[in-house]
Amino acid sequence: MKKKTPDPLSFLANELQSLKTQGLYRRLRVLGGEQGARAVVDDRSVVNLSSNNYLGLTTHPTLKARAIAALERYGVGTGSVRTIAGTMDLHVELERRLAEFKQTEAAVVFQSGFVANAGTVAAILDKEDVVISDELNHASIIDGCRLSRATINVFPHRDVDAARAILKGLPGDQRKLMISDGVFSMDGDLGALPGLCELAEEYGCIMMVDDAHASGVFGRNGRGTIDHFGLHGRVDIQVGTLSKAIGALGGYVAGSRDLIEHLQHRGRPFVFSTSHPPAVAATCLAALDVLLEEPELIDRLWGHTRFFKAGLQGLGFDTGASESPITPVIVGDAALAMQLSDRLFDEGVFAQGIGFPTVPRGKARIRTIVTAGHTREDLQFALDVFAKVGRELGLV
Ligand SMILES: Cc1ncc(COP(=O)(O)O)c(C=O)c1O
Repeated sequence: MKKKTPDPLSFLANELQSLKTQGLYRRLRVLGGEQGARAVVDDRSVVNLSSNNYLGLTTHPTLKARAIAALERYGVGTGSVRTIAGTMDLHVELERRLAEFKQTEAAVVFQSGFVANAGTVAAILDKEDVVISDELNHASIIDGCRLSRATINVFPHRDVDAARAILKGLPGDQRKLMISDGVFSMDGDLGALPGLCELAEEYGCIMMVDDAHASGVFGRNGRGTIDHFGLHGRVDIQVGTLSKAIGALGGYVAGSRDLIEHLQHRGRPFVFSTSHPPAVAATCLAALDVLLEEPELIDRLWGHTRFFKAGLQGLGFDTGASESPITPVIVGDAALAMQLSDRLFDEGVFAQGIGFPTVPRGKARIRTIVTAGHTREDLQFALDVFAKVGRELGLV
């Protein structure tokens, strides 16, 4: 192959070098098997505190059996986008069940949580409109806002008064979208949803919540933060993911029938990208059954969460304001976070370091997530390793 000179991509080498200098360069760790509470990562058996597999459903026997049955009956793919020939009865049934679960009129499934957020915001707003968004909202929300070309107003994290001040300055007849994560993915705290819902009602905003990390974790049988806070009927757009506690892949929006039909016509990922393989849809249906039939999984997750969080705090780590199974260990400096992560891994604990742009500069951390699949022995082992490595690095 003939090489272009000068190479028009040569600037990338400088970008990568800059990441390395800042301690932000990441090598991908590779799983050699299941996404388990104990897993083989880079050929080593470790306690895995890095997955979003909250309930251990990625390997649940019911989900696996239903996926295999769907694969045998329907094949491996759908061969089309939803709006042409890629809607199977499994997709329709999954949407019906999700709407029932979330107590809304209807639901629509997207290929991922990311495109559910980005595709939805872009489909309902235009350049004349305005967004009022928590500063720590997920990247997919930010991208959706940018795609919509609406004016973006960011309020400080969970600050309802600041959101009110923004709203006071906006024309009454402008279309407004208030948006917050239900659980913030890097801090594990909850969105200020009751206060934001009140504001949305007072100022006539569309209210949207991204419950990616709350579905399967918060609320009755894992119905999410809307259920947890008793806000049914007050959130116009509920987004969830099928990629975390549900154990498979996908995202969805639950809301009014008009909203869902609009997204089926104007949600660009829905219209222009091939639908889920049937085994994925069947797996998600099985996961909804498990949420209803095995609530003890959620109880176990919360028992482990309390134990592990208290353990980290008892050792003297800064775990921020987490209220969920996501517990950050905040160290500040990105290079130090990566060093901590590497040392934990050497000692048999996989807890990924997270730096800019996933979290603000100076707020680098290790993010830990416990799952229902861990045992107390796994978690005690991890705490002992955190104690040893934390002392070694002068963190506790
Ligand atoms: C808060 C939040 N929203 C949305 C997403 C995207 O979900 P998915 O992984 O299904 O694309 C994530 C995943 O990282 C997330 O943390």
